[in-house]
Amino acid sequence: MLSPLIIALDYSSLNEALACAQKLDPTKVRLKVGKQLFTSEGPRVFDALHRLGFDVFLDLKFHDIPNTVASAVVAAADLGVWMVNVHASGGRLMMEAAAAALAKRASVCTQLTAVTVLTSMDRADLLELGISETPAERVGRLAALAQSSGLDGVVCSAQEAAMLSRQCGPEFVLITPGIRLPHDSAGDQRRVATPWDAMARGSTYLVMGRSITGAHNPAAVVDSIIGKLSSPN
Ligand code: C5P
Repeated sequence: MLSPLIIALDYSSLNEALACAQKLDPTKVRLKVGKQLFTSEGPRVFDALHRLGFDVFLDLKFHDIPNTVASAVVAAADLGVWMVNVHASGGRLMMEAAAAALAKRASVCTQLTAVTVLTSMDRADLLELGISETPAERVGRLAALAQSSGLDGVVCSAQEAAMLSRQCGPEFVLITPGIRLPHDSAGDQRRVATPWDAMARGSTYLVMGRSITGAHNPAAVVDSIIGKLSSPN
């Protein structure tokens, strides 16, 4: 059965991405393709990963005028991606246009989600942008905007997941990056949590990159996380 894990294939070549994907099981995890791999290798990445049987999240965090973003999410859906995302700070018109364009594609079931506040950012980073809200306040505001614009869910840190699952209800998908195992270093992520903390707080999906892809045996790390998620004690 598919777990909540989405593994970030943050590589610059298809060969490296495939080498990692081939160590993973499409019946257990989904994959995420971001800017680095997509910019280097383009849409052929999806042919290759779909052929291996994986559901794939295209994480390009679109943020542009409504017409451009709507066209881009339709192009992503036409690649057969499972999920695609935008920046909620692009605003209501941008998100509504993207959701409406996807809804017109009757054959498509691609999920549309929005990034709230990047998990690498904290209060000081927001202040520097002239935003006086705390990260939690900002995330709450952007999630409400995404939900009322017709999106399926948001990307947020695990620290905001409990608040958002109360605010947005159980149908609204919460995707949480910034997941670290107890012995990992946080790296460039600021608002981090372990997989079990994140699930306990209401996350729907956990995005994990370096903790899995940098492991000597990624499949074994996946299995131990899934094991611990299904029997936390
Ligand atoms: O290696 P690590 O587990 O930090 O990877 C996290 C992944 O999640 C990266 O691909 C990063 O781009 C992505 N991501 C994130 N924060 C967001 C949205 C996506 O870290 N708000």
